[in-house]
Amino acid sequence: MTQSKISDDTTFNEKLTSLAFRLNGKIVQASVRPATRLSTVLRETFSLTGTKTGCDAGDCGACSVLVNDEAVCACMVPIARLANAEVITIEGIPTYTDVAQQLQRAFHHHGAAQCGICTPGMLISAVALLQRCPTPTEQQVEDALGGVLCRCTGYRKIVKAVCAAHAFRAENSPPKVDSAVGKKILRLDGEAKIIGSEKFGDDEVPAECLVLKVIRSPYHHASFELGDVESFVEQSPGIVAVLSAKDIPGVNQFGVIPPFRDQPVFAEKVARYQGEAVAAVVGLPDAIAGFNVKEFPITFNALSPVLTPNDAQQAQAPQLHAGRGKNVLTEGLVQRGDLDAAFSSSDIVVNGTFATGFVEHAYIEPEAGYARRIGERIEIFGCTQAPYMDREEIARILDIDEQDIRIMPSAVGGGFGSKLDLSFQPFLALATWQLNRPVRVTYSRPESMLSTTKRHPSQIEARIGASKDGQLKAMDFFGEFNTGAYASWGPTVANRVPVHASGPYKFQAYRARSKAVHTHSAPAGAFRGFGVPQSAIAQESLFDELANELGIDRLDFRIQNALSNGDQTVTGQTFSQGVGIKQCLTELRPTWQELNREISAFNRQAEQRNDADQLQENVRRGIGVASCWYGCGNTSLPNPSTIRVGVNREGRIILFQGAVDIGQGSNTVMAQICADALGLDLNLFELVSADTDRTADAGKTSASRQTFVSGKAAELAGLDLRKKVFESLNLNEPAQLSINNGKLVATTDKKQESLDLTNLPADDEGLVIVGEGTFDPPTSPLDQNGQGEPYATFGYGAQLIMVEVDIDLGTVKVIKVLAAHDVGRVVNPVLAEGQIEGGIAQGLGMALMEEFIPGRTNNLHDYLIPTFGDIPNIDIVLIEDPDALGPFGAKGLGEHVLIPTAPAILNAIRHACGATVRQIPATPDRVLVAIKESQ
Ligand code: FES
Repeated sequence: MTQSKISDDTTFNEKLTSLAFRLNGKIVQASVRPATRLSTVLRETFSLTGTKTGCDAGDCGACSVLVNDEAVCACMVPIARLANAEVITIEGIPTYTDVAQQLQRAFHHHGAAQCGICTPGMLISAVALLQRCPTPTEQQVEDALGGVLCRCTGYRKIVKAVCAAHAFRAENSPPKVDSAVGKKILRLDGEAKIIGSEKFGDDEVPAECLVLKVIRSPYHHASFELGDVESFVEQSPGIVAVLSAKDIPGVNQFGVIPPFRDQPVFAEKVARYQGEAVAAVVGLPDAIAGFNVKEFPITFNALSPVLTPNDAQQAQAPQLHAGRGKNVLTEGLVQRGDLDAAFSSSDIVVNGTFATGFVEHAYIEPEAGYARRIGERIEIFGCTQAPYMDREEIARILDIDEQDIRIMPSAVGGGFGSKLDLSFQPFLALATWQLNRPVRVTYSRPESMLSTTKRHPSQIEARIGASKDGQLKAMDFFGEFNTGAYASWGPTVANRVPVHASGPYKFQAYRARSKAVHTHSAPAGAFRGFGVPQSAIAQESLFDELANELGIDRLDFRIQNALSNGDQTVTGQTFSQGVGIKQCLTELRPTWQELNREISAFNRQAEQRNDADQLQENVRRGIGVASCWYGCGNTSLPNPSTIRVGVNREGRIILFQGAVDIGQGSNTVMAQICADALGLDLNLFELVSADTDRTADAGKTSASRQTFVSGKAAELAGLDLRKKVFESLNLNEPAQLSINNGKLVATTDKKQESLDLTNLPADDEGLVIVGEGTFDPPTSPLDQNGQGEPYATFGYGAQLIMVEVDIDLGTVKVIKVLAAHDVGRVVNPVLAEGQIEGGIAQGLGMALMEEFIPGRTNNLHDYLIPTFGDIPNIDIVLIEDPDALGPFGAKGLGEHVLIPTAPAILNAIRHACGATVRQIPATPDRVLVAIKESQ
């Protein structure tokens, strides 16, 4: 490491301006450079971190504040413009107007905040609207809040909350909860989200903290050489150190799947994708703020890249990794039955080739955090979905014991899979370890988009055969996935896709192959569905073609072939209960039939008007349906979670739950499940969220595993604590528990026993009785044909989507969605609905507008995600076909909800205008080409 003496009094020849303005009702004075963003001043000078920053470009609206009663993006306002202005931030809302407080309560009540990173911006924009329009219509809300992006909620609950704010009256105190599972319990961690006090990765900064900036490759593929770093540090005031690969004490390599670890913290000699880290500069905040990356001494020599799997497998293509011939990372296979015979006996066979691009997670919170060294230990605070995996990898990089590392997850402003991988953590760990001083980093939006994982682009060929009476016979599937420069979750995608590519349907014979291929692109990793959304597009599109050719109703065709209890899946697995797909599909039928009739009449009239040469009618309506199944948890791998719960002397129940809540609601769901298993009121519960020093390992938040796996562990922990309470009371008969004034009381039919908690010895956490539960879902390895039991349970769902297609412009608008999802047991209806609405919004984005093109769409104005106006009202049916193992019968839901959306939209487009779109996003130009081809 090249390091200079640290001096905090380094001065910069920057002209500062001093100006006064009113901030949340008080006159304040700021001495900063005149061009400093208001958002920066609020956060860094006044520590008002309720104002979030997501893009610094006015695209996301997360930093919205009121300036003279108008909602503006604080990142676009230079402080010099604010002399004598009145600024209100989320922290000032409670004293601003009464309706603002009602709005906050309405947000909480309606579940309008999931991760909460967009919530302050939404609330501020809504307050501005409610000031001038106290009872807005949904359209007025959509228009007024349209500049604020949310990646979690699908917007509908936000609209409802704003419309309800004027008349909203909150209950004074939470009602006593006899049983919590199944109830609309408000998020236990929701209060902080609506008042802006939730601490995300960039919201906590230790004193004397240095700032880190990563130097990245501007080329897809390049060799490079560091220059005179020593002179650079010496001659750069405020720059403290430069870090590169040679400074790593342990292994310069990390990964999420140990046998496939291949990603360096800093590239050595060669960069394999645009945005790859090659070095880092650490310095005082002002020095890093003014740092010009062009002055960093490094020479790049651009090399030719391979950017598609096809190019990467050519004989002359550069090899990205030794031992991975033709750049193939891994392959997957599931096969069953005599495929040739099944195709030969099919009366009809359809086939097609499908393509999907990179999809960016586009969470509103860019990666951020800090690290500090405490003696021979290190603490890392920041956004992550996988604290225990982070700890393991950091230990290898620093060559220290895992026990000497503490990962303290911040609130996570959206993850969706990408925050499973390490990003900023190794840089911070290395810098703080070497410098023995706290160091922080916040990725810029382009940096976040360039350097972190994406959804795998895919190229899929599929062929499906059926008999003339509509019985599915055979399916042959091959999917090639662009896994980018490093393995990340590529092996998971390659293994999961062949298991799921059939959809939740029965086939006489089946073969699905997959391949993950390296290219010089950002690593493709986990993104809600691990490749299954891509494969579902092929399968569900071809199902429509089959049904149409056979003259069978498309929904009936699916119901006829859907799996039932006792059927064998394509891996030979059977479930005696909980296979809820037929019910999901059947729930859609009345609406399906009604809308089909309406659409026929609508399109007929449009054609008639055109024939009559009246006003040209260029809009056609169509309806599509698609379904999903999704195995909860790791594929054929151990997947345990452990949850602890204890009671303290004050009679509070402390739940130590390490399942990171990234907005999906695990903090609330785990507590609901545990409370019912324990048999005590949920209002007695307090949460200790994920922290590797305090909570047991509840695995990673991915693969729809937390409700099913960690929820089961929470149930077992509650039961264990209950058992220990009974043992302490010498009770062996049924009893009802309660806690009053430090006494734990058990009431049976005949007697009442009590335990004085105040006198019991307590452990380090202040607990007097502790319960613990561990659950590892039973699976079995897949054999060479992919046969076995990959998951302990699957969740199921089906969605019906109606669209309008402008056949002249090629634009598509989704106007109705009905989603039916089998969740086994609804633990919390508001949270379940929130997952469904949010997943559908992401699926809609994937279908119609989202495609990440490295170097071209690395911001939120070139990369478009759905906004308020894109998401219609979504009707939801929650189905409870209980799982045999899940807590109270519950299954996972998080990934399932996105899978059917894109294929249902593509099927609806074809129904509307005959256009078969086989490449997404279905942008207007692609839709127009497909319309032309259909004619
Ligand atoms: Fe809106 Fe997460 S709740 S971005």
